[in-house]
Amino acid sequence: MKAKNCLIFGGSGQIGSFLIRKLTKNDLRVTVVTRNIHQKGLKIKTQANAGYIDIVEANIFEEKKIEKLFSEADYCVNLVGILYEKRKGNTFKNIHTIFPKLLAKLCKKHNLEKFIHISALGINEAIDSKYAISKLAGEKNILENFSKSVILRPSIVFSNSDNFSTQFMTLLGRLPIFPLYYSGKTKFMPIHCSDLTDIIYHIISKGSDAQIIECVGPETLTFKEILEILLNLINKKRLLVPFPLSMAKLSAKFFELLPNPLLTEDQLRLLKYDNISTGKYKTNSDIGLPSKLYFKDEVKKYSYMWRDGGEFSTEKYNFGDKEKKS
Ligand SMILES: NC(=O)c1ccc[n+]([C@@H]2O[C@H](COP(=O)([O-])OP(=O)(O)OC[C@H]3O[C@@H](n4cnc5c(N)ncnc54)[C@H](OP(=O)(O)O)[C@@H]3O)[C@@H](O)[C@H]2O)c1
Repeated sequence: MKAKNCLIFGGSGQIGSFLIRKLTKNDLRVTVVTRNIHQKGLKIKTQANAGYIDIVEANIFEEKKIEKLFSEADYCVNLVGILYEKRKGNTFKNIHTIFPKLLAKLCKKHNLEKFIHISALGINEAIDSKYAISKLAGEKNILENFSKSVILRPSIVFSNSDNFSTQFMTLLGRLPIFPLYYSGKTKFMPIHCSDLTDIIYHIISKGSDAQIIECVGPETLTFKEILEILLNLINKKRLLVPFPLSMAKLSAKFFELLPNPLLTEDQLRLLKYDNISTGKYKTNSDIGLPSKLYFKDEVKKYSYMWRDGGEFSTEKYNFGDKEKKS
């Protein structure tokens, strides 16, 4: 029997790599669309065995080109997303609102079995964030255009290839003091990337009654607790200083001038809201897939590279201790 095909947009990113591996190991073929095959092709193609993966270079708004891919697809997964608006055309509205509508329409036209879209947790609440507003409008567009859609709303997604735990460990390693926005009290339920891709695979293989699912990890941690775990893992002591909002806004304005801003004013507004399950929608636990992986245990597996000594900081290379014993 011919393997079913899953069309993935945004497959070169963090979640995409885990997803390609999960789906192809389970005998699905994937077609991955990227904006730049020269830059991303090698990374994408090494995530699956030859024969299971096709890579197509396209601008996501090249409708004619991407429509052809739908005629071969059984499922579509949208992982395209941005954290800040930078270049011309790269606006929240284009990426999070208009593009998902195009995908939903094409899914309907070509009668796909399922469209899975990755949105974000807390977007109903974060009413003053442009990111959240655009994601919410995108969800509405999808549900209006293709009834066989499932929207996943994850809390922070972490893994060895994220821009979250790895970036924070780098910053904590370099800065003597670290700012705590909103006193570090904002709550998160970090979910490991492989727990999230298990959910996506479950929906593809078994379906889902729920159209919106909140995807959360097994524990609730405040921003301050997350930083303390990371500091402990990299064996560093840093002063965590609550930042007045006016100073936080000023620093965000400055960061926005950088090509890849660490923090924008819009992200600062988002950080005001807890990023935890709301009780209004089903969660991954409700559909029988509670997250298994804890933040501290997983980050521990790669955090040693941020300690003094890097790979030599692990117990295995504790030369000093061995000498003491002999
Ligand atoms: N990571 C998290 O903590 C988190 C939490 C909640 C929700 N989400 C959502 O989950 C989705 C995937 O997240 P991720 O962490 O895997 O993101 P990521 O690593 O940043 O990857 C996003 C992908 O989107 C594509 N992309 C970005 N800008 C694009 C543009 N202007 N046009 C076309 N494609 C573009 C890129 O693909 P190419 O460069 O190959 O074209 C990239 O591979 C996003 O929608 C994000 O908002 C993530």
